[in-house]
Amino acid sequence: MQTSNQIIPIQDLDSVKAPLDEASFLPPDFYGRDSHFVLEKERVLKNNWLVVGRWEQVEKRGDYFTIDLLEEPLLIVRDKNEVKVLSNVCLHRAGPVAKDSGNRKSFTCPYHLWSYELDGSFKTAPHMEQAKNFNKKNCSLNEFPVTEWQGFIFVNLSKNAAPLVLDGIGGLDEIVSPYNLHKLKRLEPIHFSCPWDWKISVENVMEFYHYPGVHADTVGASFDIRSSTDAEFDKMVETLGAKNQYDAGQGKSYAYGMQSSKQSLNIPGMPAYELSLHLNDKQIGVHVFPNLSLIITPTFTVWPHIIIESENHHRLEYILLVHPEFAAHADHHQAREYLRDMIQRIHEEDMPILAHVAKGLKSENHVAGRICRLEYIIWQFHNWMLEQLTSFRE
Ligand code: FES
Ligand SMILES: [Fe+2]
Repeated sequence: MQTSNQIIPIQDLDSVKAPLDEASFLPPDFYGRDSHFVLEKERVLKNNWLVVGRWEQVEKRGDYFTIDLLEEPLLIVRDKNEVKVLSNVCLHRAGPVAKDSGNRKSFTCPYHLWSYELDGSFKTAPHMEQAKNFNKKNCSLNEFPVTEWQGFIFVNLSKNAAPLVLDGIGGLDEIVSPYNLHKLKRLEPIHFSCPWDWKISVENVMEFYHYPGVHADTVGASFDIRSSTDAEFDKMVETLGAKNQYDAGQGKSYAYGMQSSKQSLNIPGMPAYELSLHLNDKQIGVHVFPNLSLIITPTFTVWPHIIIESENHHRLEYILLVHPEFAAHADHHQAREYLRDMIQRIHEEDMPILAHVAKGLKSENHVAGRICRLEYIIWQFHNWMLEQLTSFRE
């Protein structure tokens, strides 16, 4: 069934689809409103691939972690050589099959002790012998499609998504392959709770335009924000067969941008090995829509993991991905602390502005503003969102 456009304010959408230098942002009605979130959840969030974690969280058989996504409790587990995303909802009375993270040989719901194998199949249920027509085969945990890219684990909640295609000519794989993302290991996350629309946080990560203002006291002075148009980046885009950097991501489910640093990103106590000397003093922002965003530097990668819960709430776990040797060595304490402090300070600069943006977007007087070229990834993201919202078929 072709979806109705009645709920989406179609009159405003031409300005979003306009060429970059003529475009405006998505209308404010798209942010933090229940009526819009219902559509967005069905057509965009459940119908695409959402990142839930990293392979090293489920490295060995029986390793698992849990996460609640769009009010769906999930259990991610490795069984033999396969990572599975199961529903963390017991088939008896919806209790939790697993808590937090760890390693198990099987899962037992603490409520009435029904148990499940690592692959989610039913194992035992005490005192159910006399239940008539009790079919164990119907008591396996629900399972969701899972896919992996560069060590990131993605789930599809509608069980209906097209495959996540990030390779091929001009694909994201070509951009990120020098940086060995699949080998990186995560350090402990820094947690933030964000009582506003998830897109406000995603869009903030997508652009460097706000660095000289919001981050003037930290990283703002270190970067040349105009450098995303520099010759080296243009050359890379040309190699990939795109006309320009805007075209490179247009119409795709991903986007990327490059940023030059005026000085080396020296982390005190950080060992000399580098993931890639190729980057020199550059960092690359990589975005797989809707919720995987990465900032890749030569020595570490920042992953602000946005865990969407509802129209006005998401959790943000700031995770640093580092070289496996660095992750394994306790004696790198000084560099770890420095990195954590840096991320914490940078994000604490963002938080009050984002809270204000959330309030401003609900003002009845606000209309969508104009986009700066330096925000071109948001323009790509907004056009992708519109495409998802309007092309959805039930
Ligand atoms: S709810 Fe899980 S055993 Fe009853
Ligand atoms: Fe920021």
